[in-house]
Amino acid sequence: MTTRNAEIVLKETDLIVSKTDLGGYITYANRTFMRVSGYRLPDLLGEPHNIVRHPDMPRGIFLHLWQTIQSGRECFAFVKNQAADGAFYWVRANVTPDVDSHGTVRGYHSARRKPNPEVLRSTIIPLYQEMRRVEAPLPAAQAAEVSLTFLKDKMAAQGTDYENFILTLT
Ligand SMILES: Cc1cc2nc3c(=O)[nH]c(=O)nc-3n(C[C@H](O)[C@H](O)[C@H](O)COP(=O)(O)O)c2cc1C
Repeated sequence: MTTRNAEIVLKETDLIVSKTDLGGYITYANRTFMRVSGYRLPDLLGEPHNIVRHPDMPRGIFLHLWQTIQSGRECFAFVKNQAADGAFYWVRANVTPDVDSHGTVRGYHSARRKPNPEVLRSTIIPLYQEMRRVEAPLPAAQAAEVSLTFLKDKMAAQGTDYENFILTLT
């Protein structure tokens, strides 16, 4: 699909929800997800969640996301997604493990809201551009590891870590 430089801006009240199985295949999407992404439910169910992946997103962020949720913790992240027509939309996502009554992780759940545009402009977009520059010359698997290490080193140099950094960006 062709990437278009056209932005879909979420409303303050929009809440985009989806659920996946343990492998990241979509098992549920709410109406707001469908409205914003432009996909119908049959286009989404059973598909890998990278169906909305935007090429501008650094691989290191997704590596961090998966490492965090697979260790049973929740993850916050700013994500640039791609709609069915190639337009993009930014979200602030909270991804959590979905645990059943026996405490077994059955899948994952993501709830997303409109991010603060000023935080995107001043912090997230430049940070992701830096991470993409680090990734550019490397093969995919290595790119994710190297840019996540770059991110963690950058946070450490600022006296923080990714979790605390992201929580301050509201
Ligand atoms: C619950 C859940 C929600 C996700 N939501 C998104 C999303 O909105 N956009 C996205 O690009 N990736 C999302 N991902 C991550 C994707 O599974 C995938 O790791 C990412 O798109 C990178 O794909 P790639 O490895 O093919 O580059 C989500 C994963 C989970 C478990």
